[in-house]
Amino acid sequence: MEDSAGQRLQGKVAVVTGAGSGFGAGIARRFAQEGAAVVVADLDRAAGQAVSGEIGEAGGRATFVACDVTERAAVRRMVEAAVEGYGGLDLLVNNAGYSHVNQPLTETSEADFDRVYAVNVKAIYLAALEALPLLRRRGGGCIINTSSTAALRPRPGLTWYNGSKGAVNTITKSMAAELAPDRIRVNAVCPVIGATGMLETFMGAPDTPELREKFLATIPLGRMSQPEDIAAAALYLASDEASFITGVCLEVDGGRCV
Ligand SMILES: NC(=O)c1ccc[n+]([C@@H]2O[C@H](COP(=O)([O-])OP(=O)(O)OC[C@H]3O[C@@H](n4cnc5c(N)ncnc54)[C@H](O)[C@@H]3O)[C@@H](O)[C@H]2O)c1
Repeated sequence: MEDSAGQRLQGKVAVVTGAGSGFGAGIARRFAQEGAAVVVADLDRAAGQAVSGEIGEAGGRATFVACDVTERAAVRRMVEAAVEGYGGLDLLVNNAGYSHVNQPLTETSEADFDRVYAVNVKAIYLAALEALPLLRRRGGGCIINTSSTAALRPRPGLTWYNGSKGAVNTITKSMAAELAPDRIRVNAVCPVIGATGMLETFMGAPDTPELREKFLATIPLGRMSQPEDIAAAALYLASDEASFITGVCLEVDGGRCV
């Protein structure tokens, strides 16, 4: 770990959901490197424990909490872990996500539709119910939602997922306006496609170089997003350098939305 003088989240306590894999793991690792104590929350116990353990071995502070972000009692335990372990909560990253597979819009089952909106949208509501009293107690804080370029430049085959991320962007802006008097900033990051656990779901077919090429052709900078890209954007939004930034849905997309 860097010495504390160079750390941008020194003294902060963060909860990162979906931190067992992909972008969430990248955000958790980077926040810890920058001095934050991190609650690594995930449905996948083995994956979450591995990320939390890795952060600890690297000299950072992290605790794993098993949590389904669609269940209020679990969300309550998740934020309580921040208070019990580290004395409070400053940063909440609603990153866990779910998608139906890329398919014609009438082929998505009702169960899958409901799961998309439960994980991507309802979880933000539940986390707000449980986390806002804690952020207010600290005199302010920061919420970051992982949205997607899907909200801004929807691709066919992902209609219901795209709509859920549209809701994330509107909710982000509305929360920002409503919570500004409490000194709580709310922003979103909008990644373009990345090679995480969700890649094949988004592509709707097994991962091949040819299929990747089809997606890369729509990204001016010519590559997929990586956890480090999303983590760097989230770090900026979480840091004091972004103290006047709220209600922003920041594209991290190599120019995809241009
Ligand atoms: N990968 C992409 O192409 C891409 C692009 C834009 C946005 N996103 C968004 O990025 C976010 C992170 O996804 P990722 O790409 O890193 O995928 P990922 O599959 O690598 O990681 C997602 C993590 O969320 C966890 N999770 C899923 N449902 C959960 C639940 N109900 N409660 C708690 N944890 C849960 C999973 O166990 C997993 O560890 C999601 O919100 C996704 O919609 C992904």
